[in-house]
Amino acid sequence: MTHQPVRYSREGDIALICIDNPPVNAIGQSVRAGLIDCADAFAADTAARIAVLYCAGRTFVAGADIKEFGKPATAPFLPDVVARLEALEKPVLCVMHGTALGGGLELALGAHYRIGLPGLKTGLPETSLGLLPGAGGTQRLPRLTGLEAALEIMISARHISADQALEMGIIDELVPAAQDPRTAGLVKARELMAMGAGPRRLCDMPPPQVNKEQIDTLRAHTAARYRGQNAQMAAIDAAVSGAAMPFAEGMKHERALFLHLRESPQRAALVHAFQAERKVAQLPELDGVTPRAFSLLGVVGGGRMGSGIAVSALLAGLDVTLLERDASSAAQAQQTVAQMLAESVKRGKLTDEARTRILGQQFRTAESYAALADRDMVIEAVFEDMDIKREVFTQLDRHCKAGAILATNTSYLDIPQIAAMTTRPTDVLGLHFFSPAHIMRLLEIVVPKATAPDVVATGFAFGKKLGKVSVRAGVCDGFIGNRILQVYRAVSDHMVLAGASPYEVDRAVTEFGFPMGPYAVQDLAGLDIGFMTRQRKAATRDPREFVARWADEMHMRGWHGRKSGQGYYTYDTDSPKGRPCPEVEAIIAAERREYGVTPRNFSSDEIIARYMAAMVNESAHVVGEGIAARPLDVDVTLLHGYGFPRWRGGPMHWADTQGLNQLLAQIEAFAQEDAHFWRPAPLLVQLAQEKRLFSSLNS
Ligand code: 3HC
Ligand code: NAI
Repeated sequence: MTHQPVRYSREGDIALICIDNPPVNAIGQSVRAGLIDCADAFAADTAARIAVLYCAGRTFVAGADIKEFGKPATAPFLPDVVARLEALEKPVLCVMHGTALGGGLELALGAHYRIGLPGLKTGLPETSLGLLPGAGGTQRLPRLTGLEAALEIMISARHISADQALEMGIIDELVPAAQDPRTAGLVKARELMAMGAGPRRLCDMPPPQVNKEQIDTLRAHTAARYRGQNAQMAAIDAAVSGAAMPFAEGMKHERALFLHLRESPQRAALVHAFQAERKVAQLPELDGVTPRAFSLLGVVGGGRMGSGIAVSALLAGLDVTLLERDASSAAQAQQTVAQMLAESVKRGKLTDEARTRILGQQFRTAESYAALADRDMVIEAVFEDMDIKREVFTQLDRHCKAGAILATNTSYLDIPQIAAMTTRPTDVLGLHFFSPAHIMRLLEIVVPKATAPDVVATGFAFGKKLGKVSVRAGVCDGFIGNRILQVYRAVSDHMVLAGASPYEVDRAVTEFGFPMGPYAVQDLAGLDIGFMTRQRKAATRDPREFVARWADEMHMRGWHGRKSGQGYYTYDTDSPKGRPCPEVEAIIAAERREYGVTPRNFSSDEIIARYMAAMVNESAHVVGEGIAARPLDVDVTLLHGYGFPRWRGGPMHWADTQGLNQLLAQIEAFAQEDAHFWRPAPLLVQLAQEKRLFSSLNS
């Protein structure tokens, strides 16, 4: 018998409508059609007095089926399905469990009564996918919770806990003990029948009150916070306009806005980002490979990164021993970890009791390698210096148990060379975290050729446990992210040498959607870091490569960026976020004179054209060389580690929207000026010739 995604049955006088569409009961066409059939069956079933709508499996409906976006919409449409349920003459009770999101909550709002199971999370996250709630969410939720509360839910796209849902009236009751949805529904349905409860429709409720002043403030705040994005403002429009219209008119307006957003490039980019984040961990090399144990973790080096890595692991429930080089460094690391955990308590990520338990039972520092003998995995995060890494890995090799995984958090050093310092290179890999490691979600899993498949699988399992988005990277200078970063930073310096100011570059880049431009980011990281990187590379650098000497000059003057109050920007109490500095422009002007460059003007469009062309071209090199497994891996890396605007999908997705031929033509034109820097990536050339897109390599 073929699987029926929606089933109708009856128990006594209670009809049961069960959605069973794994994995998350998304509402695709077959579910919509099934729901209409079941609503008709219930209406016609004279023995049924009330219907219980619930879901099989781990969750109530998690939303409309994302896989249908980008394809022609097929009837019946979700707003009509919800309206059909709501219009029934007999009461409908909805039982929500798991993650009742988007179209899932909208479906529940069409029912006449709603109960939630413990652990329920609900919300309208459509704006995070470039959409607005398009099945009545912008009309029904404000009638239930008030306009401001409903708008906050839509704009933030956040998940609401069961307790909050109860408090806001989204559910009528929270089932006290863990029960399955069917049983909980039958119990409540009998209670409703005993009370003689009839249908109770949100569409019949009066529209919400509109406080114009509050809405004006919200619009201004939203426009600033979600700069460049369409969906959040459209959600406000749908809900606020709907409040001044009859329900049916509000629904029409919502539908029109929804269909418009559904076709928008932002929706396509955001859905791409959502799907790419899930696909990064789907790699053929991991199929059927069992990860090793990793619950006992060691960390070597408790500085900025080591402490963050330890905290990230502790928050995920792992047991951590952190090794430092001496007692005072160990005490400092202990303090840093305690402080980070205290901040997690402040941010509501951890209870105070959990913090005390973690520090008492899950965490300790050590100064002797013997303390790492029982560890399943050890992550090294000491200074970026090959001699120190050699000392550490030699000791780890000597003291760690057989089968223990030895990982390095190095940013740039050669991991196969580090692996070769041990007698077990198959157990060595890179786990490259981003700063601050307990907050940033990106983890590059850097895989030398010799690494054993179960070590790679353990890297991914570990990343998942820590709640990271893990991306596989091959070995090269900078792996995926920092390698691409070096190139778009270099193109920025080229433009500044030719006449653009660092402030013009930063402005164009932030207008494009990045939270910060490349020079503001360097100030934040510390100009001393860039100086050390340039020093390290000096011996092996191609003499044709342009290196901005103005950055060295700034370093020599003790301008280390934000931490010293002066970098590309000046930071003081008047300008805590920094203001342009004429002296920086003078230093740059002096260098232009040395090179005999007559400065020219750059428009924002030209800055972005060059910046993005450099980023895309290097990304194509990275994919073509197999450093990134697919274009989507580059997109996820740039989205989660480098502030690439999510609503543009990542550099490879963005390149597809521009047309690869056009991008290639631009790069070839730039190569006329500087053939060394602008080397068109063979993969880009090939795809452009074959009229294919990067996305064709993602499946
Ligand atoms: N449609 C289709 N597939 C979906 C889906 C959806 N709405 N939501 C999740 N999935 C798929 C995922 O792609 C994944 O597939 P895969 O195994 O092939 O990679 C699988 O379900 C499991 O998802 P996760 O790996 O994300 O599982 P988690 O347990 O970590 O998270 C979740 C579950 C919280 C439901 C999360 O998947 C999620 O946030 N989903 C999206 C929810 C959402 O945004 N809903 C709104 C959709 S738009 C809408 O409803 C429009 C309406 O207003 C008309
Ligand atoms: P850091 O200077 O803040 O910390 C390094 C720590 O290592 C210090 O606490 C030091 O006492 C300790 N240490 C040095 N030698 C040691 C030894 N022999 N045994 C035990 N501990 C020792 O450095 P940071 O920033 O934490 O960087 C660590 C590593 O992480 C480097 O390889 C760096 O390239 C990498 N990295 C840094 C990022 C960043 O943003 N800072 C991002 C990603 C990776």
